[in-house]
Amino acid sequence: MIVTTKKLFEAAYGKYAIGAYNINNLEQTMGLFRGCLDSQAPFIIQISKGARSYTDSKMLEGLIRSAEQVFPEAVFAVHLDHGDEETCYDCIKSGFYSSVMIDASGLPFDQNIATTRRVVEAAHARGIVVEAELGMLGGVEEHVAVSEANAKLTDPNQAKAFVERSGCDSLAVAIGTSHGAYKFSGSQALRLDVLAEIQKCLPDFPLVMHGSSSVPQDEVARINAAGGQMKGAKGVDPTQFKPAAVLGVTKVNIDTDGRLVWTRVHREYFKEHPENFDLRPIGKVFMAEYARFIAEKNNYLGSAGHLPEVRKIVS
Ligand code: G3H
Ligand code: 13P
Ligand code: ZN
Repeated sequence: MIVTTKKLFEAAYGKYAIGAYNINNLEQTMGLFRGCLDSQAPFIIQISKGARSYTDSKMLEGLIRSAEQVFPEAVFAVHLDHGDEETCYDCIKSGFYSSVMIDASGLPFDQNIATTRRVVEAAHARGIVVEAELGMLGGVEEHVAVSEANAKLTDPNQAKAFVERSGCDSLAVAIGTSHGAYKFSGSQALRLDVLAEIQKCLPDFPLVMHGSSSVPQDEVARINAAGGQMKGAKGVDPTQFKPAAVLGVTKVNIDTDGRLVWTRVHREYFKEHPENFDLRPIGKVFMAEYARFIAEKNNYLGSAGHLPEVRKIVS
């Protein structure tokens, strides 16, 4: 069942976070649905602009609609990840997405508000909810002075004004994470102190954490042992997801870790089976490993086990 992120956030707020996972193809889609049902978790499917044009946006829509029939128990939102204004309108018009993200975080504050406001008006007119972003994601290097590092993070007072003026339904905040596999150069961690300040200014308002892959070191070691070259890759400590959820984070975005699963499975498989040229045996291994990975993430997020109760709330 496709629901809005708003419904999922109402059930989760302050207790656990919902995993938001990017998909690009059939195998990821199957692994995602299986992993979420195995762990009995509600979830968010994210589709990026790049994923929409990888084949054709209609292909992903078709995959998701089919998955909904194959897995009728599943409860999930379909969300545009990092949309520009034009892509947001396209997704809103399509009637398929239950949620869009307008990422105008690179614009000056007032322009970010104005752009977000336009998307909110178009989306709300069709019952679709909107995630916006304030602050600058991107690795905060260890040598950077605190004041300089803080300037990149979301300012709690600005966040309050931003939400009031833009009308957005959830807000992606910058609290020290960045996208990709190389997040921290040393001992940095999530700035839960900044998150606590944001929550004080925006009580009960759903917050979103991008760049939340953990880049597990055993995964990186296996990739490198099978011929990969990923030196110094590092991510977010997954035991910080639950404390972040208590501080208002209801959505945690994870993409890179799924790519690592794909890379490890394929590198190891073809190293061990150099004679193989069939795509189905490896596809099966990947779907099973991907499902296991998703279920494990949902355990860290605390969303595992909440599907029956969420299903009752939304149906
Ligand atoms: O934050 C971006 C996501 O990891 C999606 O990546 O734009 O390469 O699909 P993508
Ligand atoms: P990661 O690169 O940490 O997986 O973040 C994904 C993300 O934020 C998608 O919007
Ligand atoms: Zn992101």
